[in-house]
Amino acid sequence: MGTQRIPAAQGVYNLQDYDKTRQTFDWQEAEKHFSWAETGQVNMAYEAIDRHAETFRKNKVALYYRDESRKETYTFEEMKELSNKAGNVLKTYGGVNKGDRVFIFMPRSPELYFSILGAIKLGAIVGPLFEAFMEGAVKDRLEDSEAKVLVTTPDLVHRVPVDELPALKAIFLVGENIEETGPFINFNKKMKEADKHLEIEWVDREDGLILHYTSGSTGRPKGVLHVHNAMIQHYQTARWVLDLQEDDIYWCTADPGWVTGTSYGIFGPWLTGTSNVITGGRFKPENWYQAIEDYGVTVWYSAPTAFRMLMGAGDELVEKYDLSSLRHILSVGEPLNPEVIRWGMKVFGKRIHDTWWMTETGAIVVANYPCMEIKPGSMGKAIPGVEVAIVDDRGNILPPNRMGNLAIKKGWPAMMREIWKNPQKYDSYFLPGGWYVSGDSAFMDEEGYVWFQGRIDDVIMTSGERVGPFEVESKLLEHPAVAEAGVIGKPDPVRGEIIKAFVALMEDYEPSEELKEDIRQFVKTGLAAHAAPREIEFRDKLPKTRSGKIMRRVLKSWELGLPAGDLSTMED
Ligand code: WT7
Repeated sequence: MGTQRIPAAQGVYNLQDYDKTRQTFDWQEAEKHFSWAETGQVNMAYEAIDRHAETFRKNKVALYYRDESRKETYTFEEMKELSNKAGNVLKTYGGVNKGDRVFIFMPRSPELYFSILGAIKLGAIVGPLFEAFMEGAVKDRLEDSEAKVLVTTPDLVHRVPVDELPALKAIFLVGENIEETGPFINFNKKMKEADKHLEIEWVDREDGLILHYTSGSTGRPKGVLHVHNAMIQHYQTARWVLDLQEDDIYWCTADPGWVTGTSYGIFGPWLTGTSNVITGGRFKPENWYQAIEDYGVTVWYSAPTAFRMLMGAGDELVEKYDLSSLRHILSVGEPLNPEVIRWGMKVFGKRIHDTWWMTETGAIVVANYPCMEIKPGSMGKAIPGVEVAIVDDRGNILPPNRMGNLAIKKGWPAMMREIWKNPQKYDSYFLPGGWYVSGDSAFMDEEGYVWFQGRIDDVIMTSGERVGPFEVESKLLEHPAVAEAGVIGKPDPVRGEIIKAFVALMEDYEPSEELKEDIRQFVKTGLAAHAAPREIEFRDKLPKTRSGKIMRRVLKSWELGLPAGDLSTMED
């Protein structure tokens, strides 16, 4: 490859020699770091919090939290007590038992983290929902998972169609002045009264931990189930890839509604006993740089769209802040442009390390490590202990530099264990030979660096968020003016892709700018702001297969002005 390489970073790292570790590492080594290796008693929340509260880390800060109105810190001991209290509240008033689904639908706040950890301590399966979800998206997920308990806020609860969710037994409201009627319970009040001791529910390593809903190119969003065993990989990648060390101040900018915000916003940092920064509120370049300066953030995990927005805010802004604490910067979610890496070198004097993984993989699988050269444009190499390959559609491994399916050999510790209530869908991810097929196309060079080429399916990555076109199309079709809808990702310099909808109107409707806006708002308020099409184009007719399926591939070719390829299945 003709690309320039960026030499290894300077310093002492948890992973010192990639090749050697790759040859010798065995996951059983990682298991030694957990207390269950001796006691046999497993629970993620115990390993992430309580265990540290019993050591020299007792009074170490576990959580630095701030938003526009709050600024708080909590030690590991305090996190232990507050998550115990949350567990008691969920158990006493929500009747939560092992295996029950407890959903959390609220903006980031300390209470969100107490609730997640408290639910996990009860052996419940946690379902975090991004705060921007509107009624349709919330209902789909609570219905599919048959959630028993929901923790939310008075501001968001009107998006929960309580009467249409028979499985939902209790709703905890986090906030002030809450009236306790029907299924509604005042969370903060109960927290004040709760016992700080809790009997932890010990679970099997293969018991359910967390359920993240994610989108594919077809069908409703699907529930990806992860189990407690994932902690082995969360821990090990937090060491090797995030390079977390005892004195680090770590900040992951992702919301726990997405997998990055749980695997590396909760589990990775706390399993390693690291001080974790969490900020609430909306993205603003000034606030982000200020947070790094104020907390002295040393390790920072964010996403290409955020870096591109910071880049757009200008280099002069960076100079106003003291960001010298930064030691290690990482990125995930979309292609990390070489241009962004070069910008990072210039303004932070640091390399930005790309990492690749997905909701289904549960933890980082491919990454650039501090000890390794970076080839800008490549996502790095497979983590030791996991076999990654480029395979054809039958599961045959392809030689170097040949494009194909980015695939992972079944059996890595954090692998999803189930698609909720949909075993057939789960099986469809795997090819003969035990290859998990990611849906991404890529090639691998002679040195084992993986180069992302694109999605194979129609999944859209917009601002690092994964949106399934089907979900958006279904919502569009609910609008009275819409007869047909096809949705694609359109390349965008800042957001990676934006959502573009092609719409054919019902007979009585005339195209207009107002109608476009009305349709956009309809999706925004019915599904989620990030899922609303930024662009809408009206067409008399959309390209369909003879069986009536909208051909997104053809829409994409219209958009990009490229040949559409094989049209033999298209209707006349
Ligand atoms: C899809 C997974 C778990 C991370 C957050 C997204 C894309 C992820 C990269 C990267 C290029 C990337 C892939 C993948 N993706 N990381 N470093 N470079 N693309 O998780 O919502 O499950 O989406 O994100 O297309 O399949 P997700």
